[in-house]
Amino acid sequence: MKFPVEQFEGVQTPFYYYDKELLQQTLDVINREASRYAGFHVHYAVKANVDPTVLAMVNASGLGCDCVSGGEVKACLDAGFPASKIVFAGVGKADWEINLALDADIACFNVESAPELDVLNELAGAKGKVARVALRVNPNVDAHTHKYITTGLSENKFGIAMNMLDMIVHHAQLLPNISFEGLHFHIGSQILDMKPFEMLCHRVNQLSEELEAKGVRMKTINVGGGLGCDYVNPDEHPIPDFASYFKIFADHLALRRGQELHFELGRSVVCQCGALISRVLYVKEGNNKKFVILDAGMSDLIRPALYQAHHNIENITAAPDGPKEKYDVVGPICESSDTFGEDELLPVTRRGDLVALRSAGAYGQIMASNYNCRRIPASLVL
Ligand code: LLP
Repeated sequence: MKFPVEQFEGVQTPFYYYDKELLQQTLDVINREASRYAGFHVHYAVKANVDPTVLAMVNASGLGCDCVSGGEVKACLDAGFPASKIVFAGVGKADWEINLALDADIACFNVESAPELDVLNELAGAKGKVARVALRVNPNVDAHTHKYITTGLSENKFGIAMNMLDMIVHHAQLLPNISFEGLHFHIGSQILDMKPFEMLCHRVNQLSEELEAKGVRMKTINVGGGLGCDYVNPDEHPIPDFASYFKIFADHLALRRGQELHFELGRSVVCQCGALISRVLYVKEGNNKKFVILDAGMSDLIRPALYQAHHNIENITAAPDGPKEKYDVVGPICESSDTFGEDELLPVTRRGDLVALRSAGAYGQIMASNYNCRRIPASLVL
């Protein structure tokens, strides 16, 4: 990723910079690799980033979208996504959110429990509609990722336990305002080892066989998202390995004739095209350390504080070949966890320099808050 620093002049920091060209290349690779296999459909998990330009580009590329709130469904409709490409997941959908999605006639609700199924049936019935439903199953597959972003283990709150599945499928089939379409899974996020996805395929095959033995047919299988990106070497791997990812499913998941396989990719679509750009406010000498104090903090990018996540830190205005020094790079917020990096080797850094926090396109701006009465950082899409 190159930073057009001249065009950053006069822009209020901190802000999120998105590189349109890299996003477009990523979308092109997704389309190319997914279209190798019949029946593969990709939805963009909007929760990663809802910048209007990003959404418009994703929509123009033909991907659908995966939402987890009424607000996200509305953002997708406003961005022009056809309702037929919108799916709505989430463990706790409020009635107004369900009604909004029913009114829009979205493609599918990913339902996570029996009580939710009953409420959806009732609300759809009140409108004289039939809601298409995929049941989210908790496949008890370990994604071996951070505990806050592992979702497919039996102790997680997500989905329906496997031993209750056929009972709930049966129940769904009896409800007059529900059309049972298939199964939905999501095992976690930032997954770089393909093995957990392979395990998921085996689990899907097993459950498909069990349900088919009871005469249940399914139109769709949705395997969620989770493909990770390279936070350590973003310039070596600007585009995640979609080819290997889709191939795992093509090789191991036994898709039935005419069945669709849906993916819900978030991070891997937008992670590398975004960076948080911040200005150095002060360089402070401690007893044994030097601190670079940025005008961006955990309210702008919470991932390091919340998940101990790593984002590469680059001084994008200092001469790269000059002398280097070690710094702790911190934000201005009154919390010790407001730290982006410790002992970071950077070119000698001064007040006024611009710093980029890399690989921040996914779960960056969208997770920003007003903590400390700070403003939400704006976007600069070039
Ligand atoms: N589908 C479902 C049902 C999900 O819960 C998620 C993400 C996705 C798809 C998209 O997963 P992805 O392809 O982005 O891995 N805030 C955390 C990540 C939370 C992910 C939550 N669910 C982070 O900053 O790492």
